[in-house]
Amino acid sequence: MTETIVGVGRIGRALAEMGPAALVRRGEAVPDGEGPVYVCTRNDDLDVVLRQTPRSRRGDLVFVQNGMLRPWLERHGLADNTQALLYFAVSTRGATPVDGGGTVAWGPWADALVARLARGGIAAQAVDRETFDRQMVEKLLWNCVFGLICQARGVTVGQAVDDHRAEVDALTAELAGVAEEALELTLAPGVSERLCAYSRTIADYTGAVKEWRWRNGWFRGRARTPVHEGLLAMISI
Ligand SMILES: NC(=O)c1ccc[n+]([C@@H]2O[C@H](COP(=O)([O-])OP(=O)(O)OC[C@H]3O[C@@H](n4cnc5c(N)ncnc54)[C@H](OP(=O)(O)O)[C@@H]3O)[C@@H](O)[C@H]2O)c1
Repeated sequence: MTETIVGVGRIGRALAEMGPAALVRRGEAVPDGEGPVYVCTRNDDLDVVLRQTPRSRRGDLVFVQNGMLRPWLERHGLADNTQALLYFAVSTRGATPVDGGGTVAWGPWADALVARLARGGIAAQAVDRETFDRQMVEKLLWNCVFGLICQARGVTVGQAVDDHRAEVDALTAELAGVAEEALELTLAPGVSERLCAYSRTIADYTGAVKEWRWRNGWFRGRARTPVHEGLLAMISI
């Protein structure tokens, strides 16, 4: 079995240093063979990566991107592919990954990814699809809620918790409802409290609305909800 890494940026290079792998850079094709193909590009490069991948290797693709990938995965027949939520940060190419704990993976190559990460000192766990989806939604909510409130109010994530808590709670409840309906799942009670607790651990970070189509834009495409719409209007979206 040969493991392959597509995209040798911050995450791709960190994974490459955790064990042997074939590396695929921009413009190169994913080689034939058997084994996981870790896709470590940004979300907006996924269409190009797919074109670089022989049809026979598509089932081996492992996605580590943040955001709501499901519609894109379903459109390309990749809904059962391996996905991971990475809770480690790599600030620059070649920097040592900083483990925040809680990395999870779901799908056929989840164990291979967990084993690679373990070799690099990152704690990760293979989980079932439902557990993954719930965690994926909470990560998405954190990015969307704090990104938007930080940008609209001109505050850090810590200030959002301290000074705009009612708005955090309202936006979280609104968007959580949209995601629960779309994905047919139920989040554990206390979502907003968990998102705020995480924000307090990185209180000086300032979020922003990013990767529109994969984050806030996904919610907007499902439903126009009042708190979300009001805040988006404040930043002229
Ligand atoms: N960095 C983190 O701490 C972190 C943490 C959790 C999750 N993530 C997620 O991991 C993904 C990658 O993030 P990153 O920080 O590693 O990004 P990055 O540093 O920008 O690296 C992306 C790499 O992908 C390469 N690339 C783009 N299109 C390609 C293609 N078609 N074929 C092959 N390579 C291609 C880029 O090449 P060029 O150099 O030629 O542009 C670049 O080297 C993102 O979705 C991000 O959300 C990152």
